[in-house]
Amino acid sequence: MDPSRLFSPLPVGPATLRNRIVFCPMFVGYAHPDGTVSDRMIGHYARRARGGAALVITEYASVHPSGAESPRQLRIWDDSCRKGLVELSRAIRREGALASLQLVHGGRYAWNQERIAPSPVPFEPFPGTTLLPRALTIEEIGEIIRSFGSAARTARECGFDGVEIHGGSGYLHTQFISPRTNRRTDNYGGTPENRMRFALETVRAIRKEAGKDLILGYHFMVDEWMPGGFTAEMAPEFARRLEEEGVSYLIAVGGMYDSWREDWVRKRTQHSPYQEDLAALLKPAVRIPVMANGRIDHPRMAEALLESGAADAVALARPLFADPDFPAKAAAGREKEIVRCIPYCTECLEGYKRELGATCYVWPEAVRREGFWGIPPSGP
Ligand SMILES: Cc1cc2nc3c(=O)[nH]c(=O)nc-3n(C[C@H](O)[C@H](O)[C@H](O)COP(=O)(O)O)c2cc1C
Repeated sequence: MDPSRLFSPLPVGPATLRNRIVFCPMFVGYAHPDGTVSDRMIGHYARRARGGAALVITEYASVHPSGAESPRQLRIWDDSCRKGLVELSRAIRREGALASLQLVHGGRYAWNQERIAPSPVPFEPFPGTTLLPRALTIEEIGEIIRSFGSAARTARECGFDGVEIHGGSGYLHTQFISPRTNRRTDNYGGTPENRMRFALETVRAIRKEAGKDLILGYHFMVDEWMPGGFTAEMAPEFARRLEEEGVSYLIAVGGMYDSWREDWVRKRTQHSPYQEDLAALLKPAVRIPVMANGRIDHPRMAEALLESGAADAVALARPLFADPDFPAKAAAGREKEIVRCIPYCTECLEGYKRELGATCYVWPEAVRREGFWGIPPSGP
């Protein structure tokens, strides 16, 4: 295999990636119970950087007290989180990767007594449990947008090269863009222009607070895969508008919590790869890099995606969780040694649900036992 495309540099916003393999956000549940960074978390991310990923994007960090979804979720809304974030960005950068932090507001999926969302549309956080969220007021929308801006500024001050807005999985940004969950009749709902407003204003707030010299990614839900939801038809225009506002790259993903319960969606997500068509759909619409994601579990597959023009880079979550040395092994022509994520195995998901933190069935025994990759949190 000639992985020359995969290992060519890629300009992204104000920076250049050393290759085209990105560690895609993956909630592992290693933060302390107060949402601050732990040594285990630092070891985890630094190990992915040491293994050769060009850009390490952290799991979703909550930008506002009303938006946290899970216990042990990273948060970035007050000064107590800063010390750990500085150590985290340093550890990733020391290993040669660029460091980015994913930012999220959970909206109706946030873990609050009172659920908030663009509109009071009932939903099932778990099958059989129906909840009715309260519609956000205009003032609350403004406050949440500003909290993305100040979170990006904090990330930058803590040494991160970039931030990524989580516009996937069904969280607040997808709730605004989707006609299924956004039934507002004010400036934030109704027309496509109005439904895009929340995302575009978030980008503006981040650029205003954190400046131009920051990689700003958008985790982009190309299709909600739900009747009445956001569809791929509107995606190219939305992508163009994000680019115009100053987004540096897009990661193309599909579906959200409701659709992942559908049989046909589950079947689709078992394929390798399973979302390359979504990246290919965005590619002609924008000049910024588009990253493909979804079970890209072999360097040959990654190289083929780049060669076909479907994407400019690949964003890997579980494949790099299973084997952090995937990039280094691929670069050295040792792809046969890559330890692959097992399809249908849900150990990483189960681990964080049990609040033990995610682990992986294919890890070396010692790492599995400790749940820790053992890179020291600080050093020269
Ligand atoms: C345990 C787990 C946690 C995840 N957490 C996040 C997250 O915090 N933010 C996000 O955008 N996507 C998250 N994802 C989705 C991944 O980024 C990715 O899109 C998905 O796993 C498919 O890519 P893969 O086949 O390379 O793992 C998570 C996935 C898993 C399995």
